[in-house]
Amino acid sequence: MDQQTSRRYFLHKAAASIGLALTAPAIAALVAGCENDETTPTPPVGTTYTVDVTTIPELGAVGGITLTFVGDLNGGSPVFISRIAQNTFVVFSSICTHASCEVYPPVASGSNIVCSCHKAEYSSSDGSVLKQPTTGSATNLPRFANTFDPATNILTISA
Ligand code: FES
Repeated sequence: MDQQTSRRYFLHKAAASIGLALTAPAIAALVAGCENDETTPTPPVGTTYTVDVTTIPELGAVGGITLTFVGDLNGGSPVFISRIAQNTFVVFSSICTHASCEVYPPVASGSNIVCSCHKAEYSSSDGSVLKQPTTGSATNLPRFANTFDPATNILTISA
């Protein structure tokens, strides 16, 4: 059941359970009102975000990785920031490309990111897919362009 269908189903069930006799146009207006209030935050392309990497201890050394929220980047879901060289970072989504489960940091330094839903595996360096899920297929975790200023330790990420 998709999100809109789920919302309509919920509203119909809620109305029925409390004994409301809503007309079809009234229900449609109610659903439309709800839909307008629940838009997913999507930053405009070109929006930039800054992160002071000195505030994230996990990024203190090459090979470090962290999972963090960066404003509404990635639709408001967390992103991975991986330090692959002293002045080079890779920023990528935490949403599995197979069926949209959120993935979490590797259990040990240097090991793969494993999706708990269907066991797809991704590189903890750059989010590239290394092992397909038990059924279906996955692609690389989407990356976000970034630049790093070593003078200020500011990482600037683009949506
Ligand atoms: S959602 Fe991640 S492997 Fe299926």
